[in-house]
Amino acid sequence: MVFENLLLVNEEGILTITINRPEKRNALNLRTMQELEAAFQLVHTDEAIRGVIITGAGDKAFVAGADISEIATLNVANAKKFSIKGQEIFRTIETCSKPVIAAVNGYALGGGCELAMACHMRIASENAQFGQPEVNLGIIPGYGGTQRLTYLVGRAKALELMLTGDMITAVEALQWGLINHLAPTIEAMMQKAREILHKIMRKAPVAVAQVIRAANAAFSFSDGYAIEAEAFSICCQTEDFKEGTAAFLQKRPANFVGK
Ligand code: COA
Repeated sequence: MVFENLLLVNEEGILTITINRPEKRNALNLRTMQELEAAFQLVHTDEAIRGVIITGAGDKAFVAGADISEIATLNVANAKKFSIKGQEIFRTIETCSKPVIAAVNGYALGGGCELAMACHMRIASENAQFGQPEVNLGIIPGYGGTQRLTYLVGRAKALELMLTGDMITAVEALQWGLINHLAPTIEAMMQKAREILHKIMRKAPVAVAQVIRAANAAFSFSDGYAIEAEAFSICCQTEDFKEGTAAFLQKRPANFVGK
């Protein structure tokens, strides 16, 4: 596959995947999701790759969510499929047998926060901000966020983030247990991610793979993911969803009517 929206650099066994749509704050359109899927097939088959870092291009965003201009076109026929496909791609990342670190260098919103949570660890720079603002658009997180956020930070904090649509800072994300480490700069964040991966790469690969497998087994919300996809598609049938996404694209506040 030719990668148009991802930059892939393999250095010393570490594949750095940079989501490269900075003019759209690295929003995940369908093409970028397909490329992420293809990149992880490569990670799976290429023995020279021992660890992965996912980050965003530029200094503003890690990923500002799924692409709202595409989301706005979803309907009853395809919304559930959209959610399930995204869940599958992120599950491929989560179940990768090689360690995957999200290096969060700015906004990690919606699908961006969900992508970071699907990685095995998260390191943020000080300018990072996290949130699940889907409720502002009349929808819900649909790429596994309702499940992974609840698992990572607990039900009360997860509900606060998903119901208010507020963002939290990197310092708060550290306090909440959403990230592993906070670095003062983007360079220091990348350095920390590389340091951790180099340390893991000195361990036995089979043991590394089996730790990931066993830790993943500690939570398996298969029913929860199905309910998330169903709930996402219910939201995509509402007038408020049309209003919420149109309002974002037209750069105006949304006026929700409750149906
Ligand atoms: N999908 C599609 N386009 C997006 C996007 C997204 N999730 N996030 C940002 N963009 C686009 C904007 O529409 C804008 O495009 P334009 O220049 O063609 O008008 C461009 O990226 C820059 O965005 P802008 O809002 O001007 O940047 P900012 O730095 O002032 O604000 C954010 C950045 C991330 C706070 C803001 O863009 C935002 O709230 N994005 C949506 C977040 C969201 O709701 N995510 C969940 C989606 S399900």
